[in-house]
This record gives sequence, C-alpha cells and structure tokens, in this order.
Amino acid sequence: MFEIIDLKLNHKKKPIGLSSLPKLSWKLNSNQRDVVQTHYQVQISTQMKFNDVKYDSKLVKSNESINVELPQLEIVDFKKYYIRVKSISNKGEESKWFISFFITGYVNQAIKASMITIEDSIKLNHEETFYARKEFESKKNIESAYCTATAFGLYKLYLNGDRVGDYQLTPGWTSYNKHLIYQIYDVTELIRNGENTIGAMVGVGWYKGSFGFNRKPNLYGDKAGFLCELHINYSDGSQSVIRTDTSWKGHLSPILMSNLYDGEYYDANREIDNWCLSNLDTTDWLGLTTIDFNHMILKEQVSEPVRVIEQIQAEKLFRTPENDLVIDFGQNMSGLVQISVTGMKGDQVELNFFEVLDAEHNVYIDNLRGAEQKVTYVFGEKEDVVYIPSFTFQGFRYARINKFPGQAKIDNFIALAISSSMEMTGRIETSNKTVNQLVHNILWGLNSNFVDIPTDCPQRDERMGWTGDAQVFARTACYFKNCYNFYKKYMIDLAHDQTSDGGVPHVVPDILSGNSNDDKFLSEGAVSAAGWADAAVIIPWTLYQVYGDEDILVTQYESMKAWIDFMKNHSEDYIWSYNMQFGDWVALDAKEGSYFGATPNDLICTAYSAYSTSLFVKTAKVLNKQKDAEIYSDYLNKIINKYHSEFIDDAGCLKAQTQTAHILSLYFDLLPEDNKEIAIKNLVGLLDKENGHLVTGFLGTPYFCSVLSNHGKYKEAYDLFLKDDFPSWLYQVNMGATTIWEHWDGVKPDGSMWSPDMNSFNHYAYGAIGEWIQRTMIGIELDESDPAYHHYYIQPIIDKRFTYAKGSLMSQYGMIESKWELYGDRVKLSIKVPVNTRCTINLRQAIDIMDNNTGQTFLEMDLGFSVCVGSGEYKVEYLVNIE
Ligand code: BGC
Repeated sequence: MFEIIDLKLNHKKKPIGLSSLPKLSWKLNSNQRDVVQTHYQVQISTQMKFNDVKYDSKLVKSNESINVELPQLEIVDFKKYYIRVKSISNKGEESKWFISFFITGYVNQAIKASMITIEDSIKLNHEETFYARKEFESKKNIESAYCTATAFGLYKLYLNGDRVGDYQLTPGWTSYNKHLIYQIYDVTELIRNGENTIGAMVGVGWYKGSFGFNRKPNLYGDKAGFLCELHINYSDGSQSVIRTDTSWKGHLSPILMSNLYDGEYYDANREIDNWCLSNLDTTDWLGLTTIDFNHMILKEQVSEPVRVIEQIQAEKLFRTPENDLVIDFGQNMSGLVQISVTGMKGDQVELNFFEVLDAEHNVYIDNLRGAEQKVTYVFGEKEDVVYIPSFTFQGFRYARINKFPGQAKIDNFIALAISSSMEMTGRIETSNKTVNQLVHNILWGLNSNFVDIPTDCPQRDERMGWTGDAQVFARTACYFKNCYNFYKKYMIDLAHDQTSDGGVPHVVPDILSGNSNDDKFLSEGAVSAAGWADAAVIIPWTLYQVYGDEDILVTQYESMKAWIDFMKNHSEDYIWSYNMQFGDWVALDAKEGSYFGATPNDLICTAYSAYSTSLFVKTAKVLNKQKDAEIYSDYLNKIINKYHSEFIDDAGCLKAQTQTAHILSLYFDLLPEDNKEIAIKNLVGLLDKENGHLVTGFLGTPYFCSVLSNHGKYKEAYDLFLKDDFPSWLYQVNMGATTIWEHWDGVKPDGSMWSPDMNSFNHYAYGAIGEWIQRTMIGIELDESDPAYHHYYIQPIIDKRFTYAKGSLMSQYGMIESKWELYGDRVKLSIKVPVNTRCTINLRQAIDIMDNNTGQTFLEMDLGFSVCVGSGEYKVEYLVNIE
C-alpha cells in the first residue's frame, strides 16, 4: 500500500482567491518501512475529469513532497482549477491520483469596486451598524459565481436573504491603512435565475469602534464602509460583475450598538423584514456615498478565517450567594452565546460575560476593566428567536443573566467558541491527569487568543497583538496547530508597522505608537522592547523550522534585517538598551508593586540582540546571502565577546544573580564553554533558594525547563514542571483553571484575586511550556539543518512520576508519533515515522537495550544509545537508571 492522504495548496485545503499558482505539499502513507518518494507527477485542469490538462509536470524524479513550486502557467481570474498529484516510491509502488482544487481570484484584473458608506447621511456615532443592498438580474445559465468582500469595519455578506459563508469578524484585523484583506466566496449555488439581491450588514469593528487603551473611536478612519464585487461566469462564456457603488442603498440595522469590548445591543423592533430580498420597498432607504482610498492596499486573505470551532453546552445554571443567576459553560474561551428564547414584544434578554467567580462564588468582573461584555436582545414581533451577536466577541466561561423573559433554562444557551480555523496538528496525553489538563489549558489559551491576530487576552479592554506574547508561544502554537498562514499574515502587518529605522511596535497591528489615530500611549517608547520586537526574527525562523517553507524568510528578510540594524544602530559598544523596556515582565523577583522583573535591562536587551542576530545569520545562510551571513556573524561574535566581558565576573559567574539571566544566557548560548557548567550549577542553586520555584516572568519562564534538561538536569526540569503550589503551572490547574493565567497567583489559595487591573485568566504566554512537553517529555524534536521534520529526533526524557506519555504531530510529511511506557526500570518506546522522512532515535537515559525491532543496531553515544531509521513503525525496549 502506498497512498497520498492529503494535499495542501499554500498550506491550505482547497484555497479560494489565489492570484498565482500555489505551492504543493502532500502526505504519503505506506505499510512498509524505509519508504521514500522517487518520482511525482502533477497535473492541472479546469475539468474534474482532467479532460483538458492545462499543465502536466510529467514524471519528475524527485523526493520532494512539501512546498513544491509549480512553474509559471497562465491562469485566469475567478476560475476553478483541479489539481492532482501522484507519487512513486522507492519500493516501486505507484499511488493513485489525489485530487484537489483551487479557485483563482484577482490574477490579471484589479478590484474596481468602491468602498461605500452610509456615514455621509447618518453618523454611526453610537457604534450602530448599517445595511447595504443592491438588486440585480441574472438571466443566463450560470457556470460559477464568486463574491469578493471587505470593509472599513466588519461585515456580514448576504445573497437573497442567505448568509454567505461562515466566517466571523471579517475582514479581520490588519494595519488597515496599509493592508486591507478581502475574502472571496463561492456563491454559485446562491444566485437565482432572474431577480437577485446582494446585501451586507456593516459594523464598526476595530476600524472605527472605540478600542485600545484610550478607548478612542476612529482608530483608522471615521467612516465605516463596505466593498464587494460579484463575478458571475455564465455557461456561454460571458461574464458580468456587480460592484459596490453609489447605486446601492443603505439603512440603519437593528444592531444599535456593537463594540468588540462592550458587546451588542439588538433591537428586533428595528428589523426590516426581507431586507436582503428583491422587490423590497426601499423608499426610506438612504443613498450611499463612496470613500476614496488606495486600492493597492487590498490583498487576498492568506490566513484561515475565524470560525466557530466548537459548540459548548452550558454545564450549570445556578444562583450565586448574591442572588445572581449565572450560566457556567465549564470552559473559558473566546466566543459568543447563541440564545434560543421565546418572548413578547418589548421583552429583553441581557447577559454579562465573565471569566471567574470570586472567593464567595459571586460574579467577578473587575478584571475586565473597561470592557462591558454585555449583550442585549430586545423582542419585536417575532416570539421564537435564535439570536447570535454579529460584530463582537467575549472572553468568558460564565454569563450572568440580567434579564430574561420567563424562566431561563440551561438549554436556552449554547456557547460558540471562535478561533482562527487552523488545522489541529499536535496531541499529547500522559498518565498524569493534572498535566493533561494543563495541556488542555494550553490548547484553549491558543484557541481563545488566535482570533485573526495573536491577542494577549480575549476578555478585558486590551485584546491586542502583543509581539512578546506571540513570540514566546510561537513554537508551542506550531505544535498544536498549523499556524503557518496565521503568523504569515501577522508578520506582514509587523513589517508594515515597523518604523522607518526598523523599530518594531509592541503590538501588531500597531495602534499604540502613532500608526493609528490613538494617542501615543507610551509616547516615544511604544516600539522596540527586547523579547517583544524580536518577534520580527523569531517567528519567521520558527515557521521556517517547522514548515520548511523558505517563502516566509524571503518575504520577511528585509523586515528581519531592519530590526537587527535597529538594535545595532542603537547599541553602544555592542550593549543594546533602549527607551522603555518590559524586561522580564511580571517576574516574581520584581520589586514590590512593580511589574518589571529583577534581571537588568541591558543584559536582557543584549542577550536578545545576540539571539536574534544568530537567527538572522542562519536565515541569510538558508537564502544564500553569503555576504550578509558574514557581516552579521562577525557582528554576533562581537556582541558575544562584549557579553562575556560585561556580564560575567572574574569567577566565571553571571553578575546578575537572577534565574532569568541564567536562563537566557544558557538558552541563547552566550557563555564561554567553561562557564556553562558554572551557570547551570548556579541556576539550580537559585532554584533551590526559592524552594524549587521559579520567580521568572515572560522572558525567563518559557525556556526554564528546556535549559535544565538541555544541560542534563532532567530531574530538576521535571521537579520544576511538576510543582503544584504557587508559583507553578500546575497550581492554576488545581485551582480549576481551564485556560492559562496571566499571573501565577491570578487566584490566591484563599480564593482572593491578584489584582483587578491586570489579571487575565486567558493569557496564553506561559503556555509556552507546551514546547518543552513536546520537545523533551514526548521527545519529538526537529533538526534545524533539515527542517519541517524531514529529519527529526525522538529523544524523550523519562521520569518516574509518569507511567506513560505519548504525543503525535501531523507534520507536513505526515503523522509523527512517540509513546513511552515505564515499567520499573524498563521503558517501552513505540514510534511512527512518516514516509519520506528519517528519524534519529536517541535513548538519552538508556543503560542497556533489551528489545529492538528497528532492524538496526543502536550505537552507544555520549548521551545514551542512538539509531537512525527511515519511515515505518518501531518498538524498542530499554533499561534506564533514573532517580
Ligand atoms: C499584556 C501583556 C503584554 C504586556 C506588555 C500587557 O498589558 O497583557 O501580555 O505583553 O502588556 O508588557
């Protein structure tokens, strides 16, 4: 058996709206061992049966099966192309064709539609929303129809009364003034022969709703607008296009208020029946005007749209001691609640969303700060209603029912968790239930905060794309989900929002440092913080490592370089330190009342400048930019030399006696060989001093366990990981967390709260421990020099407190699996290696091999036993000698 089980086009299944030919990645499967591809063939056709083959690669002798580029081929706009791939293996087997398709968008044409608005007639001052509509005729047989849409604000598209697509919060959040993305929908089935009506509901969203620290409206512009272009291909070969222009008409919609933080107010008395059907009396509808803007900023959507990813039934409905009626959905999330309710005209449903109960089990909303998170529905004529808000989302586990007609029941409510709809790729399970819950919480931190951009949190009046949080979590995220396109979009905006001298904003899209109309929140200091701005380099490098697609390095190269040059230009004698820094943010070694950890800024800044420069040198090498590689590796050496003289004392110890100083110096490989031993010893000493607890913040925490286990301190790494009193990852799990907290003691043991002003219970950053679980505990580790797990390692570190741990990763090549079981001193390791890849099994704690079905002999190496195998399934049993 030899088969293709999946075909991705630009890392997506069946993409729509492409402006050029996609890159191809297919996964192969076989029941034999040591299978590699020797040849492949690709064909493209406009017909499902491939009667008219437009492109035939013929049999290509190649083992490449991911990120395969196609030669330039003439393709036309708004057309469906079928594509099929087959593969031949080294065992002489030939797979069947695997068929998929893609739909093109703007290949040769450009968007000509206008951005239309109601705001020259009525200002949406109260964050109202408006309808836009247009009737048109379609009288011939339709072959296909595709509709492009975007907005200054948020939109929902309708055709003949039906909602088009299932995307949420479109067009998403980008640096709107420079980069506005559009969606393209296949609407072939929705067009009728004869009269048709196309329409949209348009809300203010991030574009002009009040948002940001200052809650200012009009961050990007003062008029909400909508743009769409419907392309119809008729069977006779002719086409017609319907575009937004001044012939469209508009009306206020029943949503009288919608705001991302505050929620929505919907008055059904303002509904217009059949507002998106033909033959409506539109005499009281208003004319719409156009908003001028540069159409060059319009770009196709590369990332996966936000969707409802899970429906969650309410678990409990109960009264609090303060007599509030509360629904508990059992899971903290980003989402909306669907309310199914019966009422009479004028009745209201009103819900307030929140994350946790306080010590007395009452509603706790103080940590939401200014975000109201309230949804109100006012009944009109219709009595039986299913209502879901449109242009907002909430961060919540609970909802308080403020108003409800009659008696509320548990099945009146279903939570709809929303997230960017990326493919789930990683799974982990262990014999420890608390650890499993932690893994669940990491995943739900990801689900909740990957809502078109990587937000810091989904509940309070913040929800911004903090670069530091995104950077520390990137590798973990890329384990659990396929994040290539998600981060690619984010990196496009990061590059757009860089300052002219390469500085990187704290948040992307940048609404803090003058890239929008918000006040300069942090005045001159709103760019370029170490560990935050380094997202510019760390994220593209991580994506390249995990997905092997050089495109991300090519497109980000200038942005990466500009960031390195920024640090270089602002360094003094290779020591970098600049304006306002967050340092080891919220570390526990901070002075009383401060969020800034004790590790000195110049050390953190210089350490990060060395690390990012080292990744940039690797990038230059991958892209064959030898000159840059030389210049920047010379520069890197100078930073490291200076690092030694500045931060290490005569005894070879780091002067800064903080955990984070040691962690960064070791993880970024900034110490002379001789001093590493001392540093790791001192780090363990610093840990002992805290009774085995970490006192690290945003920058030290993610690498702590890795640094310990990478330096042979396996037991210490597990000890730290398994701590379950404050501060630790498992403390919050034991306190009932269902996502990752911002603070180690968000809720204290007595149930009281850390502080109201910065206490998110859904902050994914500390979930970066997921990377250690994957790479060390499960032991699935990639090979930097042969990315995308083309060659990788299985090298789990076993600990006696577990009887098993297993993980799987759907890599670009196929499924990687690793499972270890511990019976006394005997480990049973079972692994699965995908076709076309090789895996080096390193048994780092082994003292003897008992049983080995790999067909090869393990070699005894410095660090345990090792063997390299090709694809297939393997089992090895070995003896360990662990404390
Ligand atoms: C955010 C963090 C962010 C930080 C910057 C906070 O308000 O919630 O996650 O990285 O500010 O220091």
